Amino acid sequence: MLRYALAAAALSLAAGPALAQDGAALFNMQCKMCHQAASTSLAPALTGVAGAKIAARPDFTYSPALKAKDGAWTDANLDAYLKAPMAFAPGTRMPVSVPADDARAAIIAYLHSLK
Ligand code: HEC
Repeated sequence: MLRYALAAAALSLAAGPALAQDGAALFNMQCKMCHQAASTSLAPALTGVAGAKIAARPDFTYSPALKAKDGAWTDANLDAYLKAPMAFAPGTRMPVSVPADDARAAIIAYLHSLK
């Protein structure tokens, strides 16, 4: 019994990093085919994107739609963009959305780890 209690305590302590780890797996499946460690013609790199100004990398040519957005990639903006890219920035060239709330939360946690 004690063993289970300890295991449960360890699990809840690990919730933060575990979320980012799930996010890493999801990112590898759904994002990495376009978003590489360096920007390519397919997509901008996402290092440091959490908290950064929207569409601000000098090494990528963004759509006018995303370029026109003011503000920064707060968690709320990332969540809105990943949920419905075309609603957030009509005309954006990113075609992928993540409908599941928990998957978006995990991916956003992972984006924070890309330094
Ligand atoms: C088919 C290629 C493709 C896939 C797959 C893709 N993206 Fe993108 N992403 C893009 C492109 C292209 C842009 C730039 C969009 C524009 O300029 O309108 C972009 C932009 C972004 C931005 C804004 C970057 C910035 O510098 O402002 C974020 C954040 C982002 N993507 C996250 C993700 C995540 C997370 C996933 C996986 C769930 C993902 N993308 C999957 C192509 C892709």
